[in-house]
Amino acid sequence: MQAVWFEKKGPARDVLVVGEMPDPTPALGQVRVRVHVSGVNPSDTKTRGGFGGNLKMEFPRIVPGQDGAGVIDQVGPGVPETRIGERVWVYEAYRGRPFGTAAQFVVIPAHHAVKLPDAIDFDTGAGLGVPALTSHRCLFTDGGIQGQTILVHGGGGGVGNPAIYLAKWAGARVIATVSRPEQEAAAKAAGADVIINRKTQEVIEAVRAATIGQGVDRVVDVDFAQNLQTNLAILKTGGVIASYFSSPLTSPFPFIPLMVQCITVHCVLVYTMSQRAHREAIRDTTACLEAGRYRTHVGARFPLHELAQAHQAQDSGSVVGKILIDLV
Ligand SMILES: NC(=O)c1ccc[n+]([C@@H]2O[C@H](COP(=O)([O-])OP(=O)(O)OC[C@H]3O[C@@H](n4cnc5c(N)ncnc54)[C@H](OP(=O)(O)O)[C@@H]3O)[C@@H](O)[C@H]2O)c1
Repeated sequence: MQAVWFEKKGPARDVLVVGEMPDPTPALGQVRVRVHVSGVNPSDTKTRGGFGGNLKMEFPRIVPGQDGAGVIDQVGPGVPETRIGERVWVYEAYRGRPFGTAAQFVVIPAHHAVKLPDAIDFDTGAGLGVPALTSHRCLFTDGGIQGQTILVHGGGGGVGNPAIYLAKWAGARVIATVSRPEQEAAAKAAGADVIINRKTQEVIEAVRAATIGQGVDRVVDVDFAQNLQTNLAILKTGGVIASYFSSPLTSPFPFIPLMVQCITVHCVLVYTMSQRAHREAIRDTTACLEAGRYRTHVGARFPLHELAQAHQAQDSGSVVGKILIDLV
């Protein structure tokens, strides 16, 4: 099969290799998926690039790509043959394994291949994995959100945009921040009720105005450190900050202000959230898809042999929307 891999970490153009690998065979409890579309995430480029100075190779050769969508074409022992031919989306393809979705075939545990509703295309499926599971966890860790007001920082982003879709599906009112017209369009398409340009507007004032001074119930946050003071100013007492990333804190963790407002802080990592959290996120994402309430906003697409360009585009931050890799 055609695949792209790396055998040392470093810049995309230096380490990504395009070539042929043996077709994989599914073992006990596994399925093989013929990948149609692979989704690129920042964690793929961070793994390849040696984020945080981690240049150690977890396996001698790694095929990147946690997310993707395609069709099951083989099943291993213990997996019903009725799954052959099933259209699926794939999550965490190379978590704890060497080979992900940047290849014509990927072999994964059967439950990492989730049935894609008939009406949903492979592009949307390839954009689900990391973004949908992460945003779901940020939104729902403290239970349902119907009738609540949620602030989504970075509402045009890879995780922020799905957070809007899922929050609207769940009956919340959504305020989203953006910084560019393309992000505004993506946040609007996802159903955000109020959109604030964080570069040209005063976010705290705009949120207070949009909530008649009441503030928001929960925040889905792309940068804990950068947005902390804003979040403290606009959260209701008892509110929740769920952050999936942070730049380094430049001042001490503000325990007293957080305590005074009884604010809960969740640090969310999709890869280590519980199996139960995964199951709940998959259940709700499927329901949201079936209700026609979820889209993957595609920002750019590349053929497999241009994966290095795709990684560079991901790291540049210039693309608004999902970066997809075509394999069919
Ligand atoms: N913990 C997890 O499980 C998890 C899961 C997925 C992603 N992540 C991490 O989260 C980060 C974002 O991932 P992503 O896929 O969403 O990336 P992305 O597609 O680049 O989106 C990030 C969005 O956040 C916006 N943004 C950046 N700083 C902001 C701030 N201080 N306030 C409000 N908005 C801000 C960006 O806007 P601008 O273009 O204006 O900067 C962009 O729209 C990455 O570091 C990624 O590795 C973590």
